Amino acid sequence: MADNPFVYGVTVDGTHFINREKEIQTITSALAGGQNIILYSPRRYGKTSLIKKVGEELKKRNILYFYVDFYKLSSVEELYTFYSNAIINELQSPIDKMWNIIKNMIPTVNPRIVYQEPGLPSVEISAPLSLLTKTQTLSELFDAVEKHAMRSKKKACVVFDEFQEVAVIENGEIIKKCMRSSFQHHKKVSYAFLGSKNHLIKSIFGDTNSPFYHFGKHIDLDVIRDESWAKYISSGFSKTGVPAADDEIEAVIKITGGHPYYTQMLASEIWEVRKGKKRAEKADIDTALHSIINVKKDVFIEIWEGLNGKDRRLLKSIAGHESAAVYSTAFIELHHLGSAASIRRNIQKLVARDILGRTMLHEYYVLDPLFKRWIVLAGLEN
Ligand SMILES: Nc1ncnc2c1ncn2[C@@H]1O[C@H](COP(=O)(O)OP(=O)(O)OP(=O)(O)O)[C@@H](O)[C@H]1O
Ligand SMILES: [Mg+2]
Repeated sequence: MADNPFVYGVTVDGTHFINREKEIQTITSALAGGQNIILYSPRRYGKTSLIKKVGEELKKRNILYFYVDFYKLSSVEELYTFYSNAIINELQSPIDKMWNIIKNMIPTVNPRIVYQEPGLPSVEISAPLSLLTKTQTLSELFDAVEKHAMRSKKKACVVFDEFQEVAVIENGEIIKKCMRSSFQHHKKVSYAFLGSKNHLIKSIFGDTNSPFYHFGKHIDLDVIRDESWAKYISSGFSKTGVPAADDEIEAVIKITGGHPYYTQMLASEIWEVRKGKKRAEKADIDTALHSIINVKKDVFIEIWEGLNGKDRRLLKSIAGHESAAVYSTAFIELHHLGSAASIRRNIQKLVARDILGRTMLHEYYVLDPLFKRWIVLAGLEN
């Protein structure tokens, strides 16, 4: 039996990566042109996979590319170690050259040669002691890529994934100030900040008193809406000999709304349900959907339990629609919601918590398509 052709929960590339041509082009040209960008989307829309593609494009243009994930960081020391090691990993020079490059980039650094395997030396860096008392040490780190780019006469790009986490790192404010004061002088390096928490990203880049106020071009990543999903899903089923009719594939896309992670997940689950079966049944889609909702149920219940009665009533009202003009008299009357003024704060809270999204027409919808289904199906009490 062939392997499951659908992939979710990891960054995707190759044939598993679809669409996004426009985004790749826009982001690549912005970064190659020296512009900083802020790429936002709710969780699991495909930011990391997309930026990796952009990285490949930049490298093709002979631009240096560095990637740092803030998700795993909890201290300034870790930031130092991760950032400097991310730089080293990308440089891929022979060990003796590497040593010199690193020393030139960050003079106070303490590199060590380690042997991950016998005969295979690599350079590792750990953070200098009492780092925090020396913002100079941090500035040196943040200036390293610019320095290296200048020396090698190349442009460079640095990606900070899950950048909103800087807000929860101890001494995050110092880090942000330090980053900003270094980055603003850089001529050869452009920066991409990726984030998935709406209110944190907004406050880092939108608050007038934040060091990163207006620091780059904002790009909101949407779900994948066009026919590329149908093609991808259809080809996944047919090349593995598992049947899926066109109307079933359409049904999958309708359920997930083109949400990248959920579309792959649901297709994958249907494939599992069907593989090896003598005859495909219409009910397979429901079986797969319920099994996914079952897996996610605990997370959904936790979110639900963190909401008050009014939030819940609003969510139930909105979940019944594709999107809703929540402040319209018709909607408020239909769902007995009181007045527009009285729900404003709840709506704002639900948006800040990434539970609700807002369309271009200022209508609101439940961001997570399966959470939306769970709300509707579970027939919850207020
Ligand atoms: N271009 C794409 N084509 C097909 N599937 C995709 C694409 N982008 C993302 N996916 C699906 O979505 C999942 C999540 O992608 P990725 O990790 O890149 O998103 P993310 O926005 O970085 O998520 P997170 O918020 O968890 O960091 C992938 O595992 C894959 O199933
Ligand atoms: Mg990611």
